[in-house]
Amino acid sequence: MKSQLLEIFQRRHACHLFQADRCISAEDSNFILEAGRLSPSSFGLEQWKFVVLSSQHQKLALQAACFQQPQVGTSSVIVVILAKLADLHPDSEYLRRLMAREYPGDALEAALKNYRSFHAATDIKAWSENQCHIAAANMMTAAAGIGIDSCAIGGFNPAEVIRLLDIDPARYYPSLIMPFGYCAHAPGEKQRLALEELVEYR
Ligand SMILES: Cc1cc2nc3c(=O)[nH]c(=O)nc-3n(C[C@H](O)[C@H](O)[C@H](O)COP(=O)(O)O)c2cc1C
Repeated sequence: MKSQLLEIFQRRHACHLFQADRCISAEDSNFILEAGRLSPSSFGLEQWKFVVLSSQHQKLALQAACFQQPQVGTSSVIVVILAKLADLHPDSEYLRRLMAREYPGDALEAALKNYRSFHAATDIKAWSENQCHIAAANMMTAAAGIGIDSCAIGGFNPAEVIRLLDIDPARYYPSLIMPFGYCAHAPGEKQRLALEELVEYR
């Protein structure tokens, strides 16, 4: 298991061009979305929403909003991960419903009080986006595990994506654009710092 997992982490790479004529199946696409859904999130608030696009005109429009990065238009399926905003307000119905799962019964009111302080002290947009990145990582790893390539795309014009997807900016902010498909090029050599440079044991 350890070697299999490491092999998947080694194999996943940022694909810069997909084979435009190869589609991923609906079953595989659902498997990837499921990996996102099962991701951990702060307070268990599932700060993400997944918008799935697969038509050619949608992909090309999104590519234009991503500074014409070709992996967007050539992918099979794109998952746009939206970071929730308004739902994370302490007075929202969503917040109360999800907090009640984490803090059942009498624990809820105290947890909501704590959350209210946390909300006031936190950059909620950045915090929400951070959770989306966790879901994105799990989706990329899951995809690599079944032989599907991906590329996280943070290089996009958010205002353009908001306009194209007709998003209410008070409710959602586009966090990451995730194209999936079969890569048209071999992965480059993995470039990573050695553990000795990254890890400090105390
Ligand atoms: C949050 C995030 C945003 C990224 N944005 C882009 C992007 O806009 N375009 C791109 O080609 N790669 C993008 N990447 C991919 C990284 O460049 C890539 O993961 C990194 O260079 C390491 O290479 P590897 O994934 O092949 O191991 C992004 C990666 C992350 C995690």
